[in-house]
Amino acid sequence: MINRTRRLRSTDNIRRLVREHKLSVDDLIYPLFIEEGSNIETPIVSMPGIKRYSLDTLSKELDEVVALNIPAVLLFGIPSKKDEQGSETWNDQGIMQQAVRFIKKNHPGLYLITDVCFCEYTSHGHCGIIHQQDVDNDTTLVNLAKQVVSHAKAGVDMVAPSGMMDGMIATIRTALDQHGFTNLPIMSYAVKYASAFYGPFRDAADSTPVFGDRRTYQMDPSNRDEGLREATFDDQEGADILMVKPALSYLDIISDLKRNFDRPVACYNVSGEYAMIKAAAEKGWIDEERVMMESLLSMKRAGADIIITYFAKEVAKCLTK
Ligand code: PBG
Repeated sequence: MINRTRRLRSTDNIRRLVREHKLSVDDLIYPLFIEEGSNIETPIVSMPGIKRYSLDTLSKELDEVVALNIPAVLLFGIPSKKDEQGSETWNDQGIMQQAVRFIKKNHPGLYLITDVCFCEYTSHGHCGIIHQQDVDNDTTLVNLAKQVVSHAKAGVDMVAPSGMMDGMIATIRTALDQHGFTNLPIMSYAVKYASAFYGPFRDAADSTPVFGDRRTYQMDPSNRDEGLREATFDDQEGADILMVKPALSYLDIISDLKRNFDRPVACYNVSGEYAMIKAAAEKGWIDEERVMMESLLSMKRAGADIIITYFAKEVAKCLTK
């Protein structure tokens, strides 16, 4: 007797009926780079289709995101001045805080998430306070608390700390609760690897470290069990959503988190993953739309509930075709 698995593949209708995983616009978060200044609409060369906007040029892009029914955006701020500590991150008049107030007022239909980190704001490009050529964990936590409270006061809907400091979720949860923001959720970049796939982003956000690298705080790509450990601590400290980053080379980690935690799992389809597809498509070597949809679907299949992706607008268009 032959086991005939092909029976359920014979027509499109039966394939639709037995399909296990689907991409939906409801899964998507679109990242946005907001630069301090005016009249800025600078294309990012290594990320075709993605631009840095100032607040006065942003609305057209946001209207499009809303029209495509994408539920949320993730904001990155690019300040006009940097310093050793990244003190602009907790300035109530800083670019992120201005952006939050602007978007909440003019585009109230969008769910607004801020990336919480220091690397775009520090003169050295690292994700915290430097002490003896390394990021000092616990003094960085003090500033992290100031930063999230400032974002919360500006009116953000969710914060997403990406700095990989130990204890960051507990610190942030406590600070938010103490200031009355008990209902503000935290999406933790819980399992974030020291990845070469962030290359294009660092150009986009001006956040390349001027010395060393991020390997003393971001995870070693060789490690899998350690991902569970990182996620366990963030789960215990009160993260509402656990994120894996990057996505495509870390599908095993997405699957681990989905199976081991009773929290929504997000993944970040990062700049290098985007750039590779764009570049190969530009050369005519791959079918861009099909490769895009297939790679995002693999993230869903691995267990991601939420996908942060620069492809969000293109995926949304594709899904309504
Ligand atoms: C850190 C941060 C990074 C990304 C998102 N948040 C870069 C880094 O750790 O160097 C990368 C995103 C991407 O590559 O698309 N604030």
